[in-house]
Amino acid sequence: ITAPVIAIDGPSASGKGTVAQRVANALGYGYLDSGSLYRLVALAGQQAGVGYDDEAGIAAIAAALSAEFRGDQVLLSGNDVTEAIRSEEMSAASSKVAALPAVRAALIERQRAYRRWPGLVADGRDMGSVVFPQAEVKIFLTASVEARAERRYKQLIAKGVAANIRPLLQDLRERDERDASRSVAPLRKGEDAHLLDTTELSIEQAVDAVLGWARDAV
Ligand code: C5P
Repeated sequence: ITAPVIAIDGPSASGKGTVAQRVANALGYGYLDSGSLYRLVALAGQQAGVGYDDEAGIAAIAAALSAEFRGDQVLLSGNDVTEAIRSEEMSAASSKVAALPAVRAALIERQRAYRRWPGLVADGRDMGSVVFPQAEVKIFLTASVEARAERRYKQLIAKGVAANIRPLLQDLRERDERDASRSVAPLRKGEDAHLLDTTELSIEQAVDAVLGWARDAV
């Protein structure tokens, strides 16, 4: 018998990372931010000078990736890259490497290894469909693209970073399009996933909804 998994999938800037982390804390479960793995692969590819269209080259980097999560810190080969992987450049680059089938295949077992007792909350695009198809709870967490752009905008302003809504909207639309139209593990709500639209919800309301489904299933 394996540890329970709560799979939370959805588009960029939907707030699923924040919700997933809080649900994990509330339940005492581990947390996997699968998107950061694709971000790490993109950064490692850039550092190694491998082009994002070199599928075999990027897949080799993914297979050999030295990634470590220490609290809120993300380490690549022992170096703190927490901020570096969050740049707009790496956001775009990660969705390019994530479209390469060999890269996704190279990361599957690494992601499954995070399933440990007492349980795991995993967030990404294909947690419920590909990585943990047997997950006890599957959630498709989304919000309107305008609401997501506004949240990203407020985050940037709060961090003291100059930002404009328009390019943020444009970037989210492009990434949504790339994530939803790729041939492997496209982003879409599975029939067995609960839909959680957070356009009009607070973080607390979203967390409570997930905890409610978890209580029923686990
Ligand atoms: O979630 P986050 O925005 O950090 O993910 C970065 C990119 O990695 C996404 O744009 C998506 O293309 C890709 N990704 C993926 N599958 C996952 C998680 C992320 O393809 N499970």
